[in-house]
Amino acid sequence: MTVKELLQEILKLKQEKDVLILAHYYQPIEIQEIADYVGDSLGLSRTARKTNTEYIIFAGVDFMAETASIINQDKHVLIPNYESCCPMAAFLTPEIVKTYKKEHPGLPVVVYVNSTAAVKAESDICCTSSNAVKIVEKISKEFNTEAVLFGPDANLADYAEQLSGVKCLKMPDVGHCYVHSQIKPEHIINVRDIYPKAKLLVHPECKRDVRELSDFVGSTAQMYNRVKNSPSEEKEFIIGTEIGLLERMAQDFPNKNFYPVMDKVICFNMKKHSLELIKYVLEHLDDKAFEIKVPPEIAKRAITPIMRMLDYS
Ligand code: 13P
Ligand code: SF4
Repeated sequence: MTVKELLQEILKLKQEKDVLILAHYYQPIEIQEIADYVGDSLGLSRTARKTNTEYIIFAGVDFMAETASIINQDKHVLIPNYESCCPMAAFLTPEIVKTYKKEHPGLPVVVYVNSTAAVKAESDICCTSSNAVKIVEKISKEFNTEAVLFGPDANLADYAEQLSGVKCLKMPDVGHCYVHSQIKPEHIINVRDIYPKAKLLVHPECKRDVRELSDFVGSTAQMYNRVKNSPSEEKEFIIGTEIGLLERMAQDFPNKNFYPVMDKVICFNMKKHSLELIKYVLEHLDDKAFEIKVPPEIAKRAITPIMRMLDYS
């Protein structure tokens, strides 16, 4: 089957069945093309929250599908490849959160959505990269504290602390994303040398020394909107995040030029889905092998911090 035939078959199956396909900006571009909605973690959660379809096929990593499942317990959330996971989540376990809570009684626990459902269940509120600053500000006011516990991404914690002025105690110190933390100041200096007129946009999962050399820091959707709303004289952009977002923007804004900050900014975990797998899932919607289900006792506790985040942002 050619890619074109595959695409047509998927679109036909999608029309026949009660299903919504969600895709993150880091998905392979051909998957983004067949999705009903493409967005960042927050946009995907919001869309999952308001959907009426019986089935959601989630082309993203496991924590995103888990979140959609927790807020849609009456629906079927399916992931085309269950090996698509976010390694950052492994930096934080419920036991680590409990230890920090014991050491810092009274501090609110903010958990990045890039975490397991069991960790979310131990938190007071979740956040994504697009609302971390706002969430930290709001929850510290609500708890009347000058600090919060924040995990698992130490770089996002640092960014939220820098912008909010609220101390973000990192749970743990070393949590990071392998895709973003490989970007170093020397890559920025080098690429700026090649494209001196380009605006440089980076994700808040990048380290502080990289963020400080950029023109804009934001989530994937915030970077997308920064380009979308840019004046016509801004023609060139260097993208400091996973290549899928660059591919999306290159398609949507053909009058602008996009350059990766360095070679191989690829999240291999996000690239584990394929059109073939999506077609297979569409043909086998009731096959439990693809369904993401969080144990009810964990889902019951994890839903509160997720809904709190959605209501606060
Ligand atoms: P966004 O919230 O910007 O989509 O980021 C998710 C993510 O996993 C970044 O690596
Ligand atoms: Fe996780 Fe990093 Fe991949 Fe995002 S880019 S899903 S944080 S590994």
